[in-house]
Amino acid sequence: MGTVSLNLFPIISSRQKLNRNRVSTDQRLLRKKSITDTSLRVNQISAKISSLYSCAYNGKNSGVLEKDSVSLTDGQLNSEMHDDGIGIVDFFCGKKLLITGATGFLAKVLVEKILRTMPEVDTIFLLIKAKDEEAAMERLMNEIIKTELFKCLREKHGMLFENFILSKLVPVVGDMRKTNIGIEEEVANRIATEVDVIINSAATTTFDERFDVALDINTKGAARIVNFAKKCEKLKLYVHVSTAYASRQRQGKIIEESFGKGHYVVSGAGKNEAPDKHVLGLNIQAEIKLASEMVESSKENEMDRNLKDLGMRRAQKYGWQNTYSLTKAMGEMVVEDTKGELPVIIIRPSIIESTLREPFSGWIEGNRMMDPIILLYGKGKLPGFFSNPDMALDVVPADIVVNSTLAAIAKHGGKESKVEDNNSNDHVYQITSSVANPLITRDLLDLAFQHFSLSPCFDREGNPIQISAFKFFSSIEDLLSDMKSTSSNDEISPRQEIIRRKSIEHFKYMANLYQPYTFFDGRFDNNKVEKLLECLSEEERKDFGFDVSSIDWEDYITRVHFHGVRKHVMKETALK
Ligand SMILES: NC(=O)c1ccc[n+]([C@@H]2O[C@H](COP(=O)([O-])OP(=O)(O)OC[C@H]3O[C@@H](n4cnc5c(N)ncnc54)[C@H](OP(=O)(O)O)[C@@H]3O)[C@@H](O)[C@H]2O)c1
Repeated sequence: MGTVSLNLFPIISSRQKLNRNRVSTDQRLLRKKSITDTSLRVNQISAKISSLYSCAYNGKNSGVLEKDSVSLTDGQLNSEMHDDGIGIVDFFCGKKLLITGATGFLAKVLVEKILRTMPEVDTIFLLIKAKDEEAAMERLMNEIIKTELFKCLREKHGMLFENFILSKLVPVVGDMRKTNIGIEEEVANRIATEVDVIINSAATTTFDERFDVALDINTKGAARIVNFAKKCEKLKLYVHVSTAYASRQRQGKIIEESFGKGHYVVSGAGKNEAPDKHVLGLNIQAEIKLASEMVESSKENEMDRNLKDLGMRRAQKYGWQNTYSLTKAMGEMVVEDTKGELPVIIIRPSIIESTLREPFSGWIEGNRMMDPIILLYGKGKLPGFFSNPDMALDVVPADIVVNSTLAAIAKHGGKESKVEDNNSNDHVYQITSSVANPLITRDLLDLAFQHFSLSPCFDREGNPIQISAFKFFSSIEDLLSDMKSTSSNDEISPRQEIIRRKSIEHFKYMANLYQPYTFFDGRFDNNKVEKLLECLSEEERKDFGFDVSSIDWEDYITRVHFHGVRKHVMKETALK
C-alpha cells in the first residue's frame, strides 16, 4: 500500500518550501474586528428570519465602512503575499458569493467550510431549483442545513445557529437549464451588482444521462452562467467545477491543460462566434442539434432510452468515457470560448469521496463512484469486479477538494482581476492523487476484504455475511459466469428467477458503465495544486491544507471512508 505519512497536513515537509507565518499586527486586528462584527450582526438579525430576502438584499452587511475595510485588507495582502501565504481568510472577508449545486455533495462541504472557518464572509447566494422562494428556503433548510455535515457549526453557534446561517445564506430560485440561469430578473440584477465570486458546481453527474439533459445542464448551462457572470459588475472570479475526466486522455500522465480557446460557442449564450476551430471534429452546436432531433423523432416510450444511448454513442465516438464526461468537457470548452475578459479558474477533481478530516471524518452523501461496487461486495452480492487490479484509482477526499478550491479562489480572485493569457494553463487545477500518491485498486480491495471480514454486513435474519477475497475479472463474461457458478443450485421460485436475471442484467450494465474507469490507464498530474500548496502560510496549511501526497490511504479507506459510507449512505447504526 502506498502510504506516505500518518499526518495529513504535516507542518513542514522536505519537498515543500513553506512560507513562515508572519501575519501582520494590522491584519490580526482587522480579523479580530470582523469576528466581533459578525457576533454583533448575528444578534441584530435574530428577529429578521422571516424577511430573509429583504434582509439579504437591502444592504445587509454592505455599509460603506465595511466595503472600505475589505478593500484595504485585500490591498495589504497583495503586497505581503509571500510572507503571509495566500490570504484565504482575508480574501473571503466581506465577500458575496453565488454558488450553484449546493444541494449536491461537494458544494455542501464547501458552504459548510466557508461558514465555519470564515464567518466574516458577507453573503452566500445559493442557486436552488424550486418552484418559488418558499420552496427554495425549504430545500435549503432540509437538504443543506439540517444535514449532519453542519453539526459542528450547530454546536459552535448553539441557539444562534439558524440566525447565523440565515444571516449568511440566501436561497435563490434558479435553474441552469433556463435563460439567465432561471433567476428572476430583479433578483438577478441585484446579485449582478453585488456578487464577488461565482462558483458553479451544478451538474448532472449521471454517467449515462439523457444526452439532451446533460447538454442542457453541463454544456449549455456553463454558457448561461458565464453569460450571467459577465454582467456582474464587480465579479473577481468565476470558478468552474469540472472533472479530471473531462480530458479524453486515458494513458500516461495527464497534465493540467486547458482546452484553450477556439471551440464552438453555443448559440443563445451571448456572443456567437464562428465555429472555425473544433476539437477533433467535435461540433457542440451539431451535438445539440442531434439531441433535439432525437427528441423530435422519438416516441414517448422510447425517448429516455434513445437519448441515453445517443449520449453514450457520441461520447465513445469522440473518445470520452460517457455522456457525463463528454458534456462536462464541452462545458469547459464553452467556458474558454465565451469567457472573454472574465477572470476564470477551472477546478478538475477526480473521484470525490468522504471527508478526510473536516468538519469531521467520513461524511459523505449518496452512493457514488466506487462505493456501489464495494458495498455490493460487502453485502455478498458481488464476488469481485471487471477491473485492472494494478491501476491507480484517483480518489480525493471532499475536504481536500474544498480546501484546494478555496486557496485557488483566493489566489486568483485576489489578483486585480487579471485575465489569464489565453494560451496559459495557469487557471486549470487538477485536484487529483494518482501521480502524487497513487491508491492502487488491488490495495483498496484488499482493504475492503479486511474491513468486511472484521466488520461484516448482516443479512435480513441478522446473520453476518461472509465474504471471500475480492476477485478481479478481465472480462464481463468471466464475472457473470463466476456469479452463475457460485449461485445456489437450490430450486428457486419463478419470482426469484426474475430477480436473479434482473441482477445479472444490472451487473452487466454496471460493468459496461464502469469499464472506462476500472481499466483507466492514465494518471492525473496535480503539479499546479502542489505549487498552490507551497503558497500557503503555516497557519493556512493547518486550516486549509490539501496535501494529497501525505494521505495515508490505508487509514483513510478503513478508518474513515468505509465507516462513513456505512453510516451516512447505508445508514447502519452500530459498526464495530
Ligand atoms: N462527485 C464527484 O466525484 C465529482 C468528481 C469530479 C467532479 N465533480 C463535479 O463536481 C460538481 C459537484 O458534484 P457533486 O458530486 O456535488 O454532484 P451532485 O451531488 O450530483 O450534485 C449536483 C448539484 O447540481 C444541481 N443541479 C443539477 N441540475 C441543475 C439545474 N438544472 N439547475 C440548478 N442546479 C442543478 C443539483 O441540484 P438538485 O438537487 O436540484 O438536483 C445538485 O445540487 C459537479 O460539477 C461535478 O461534475 C464531481
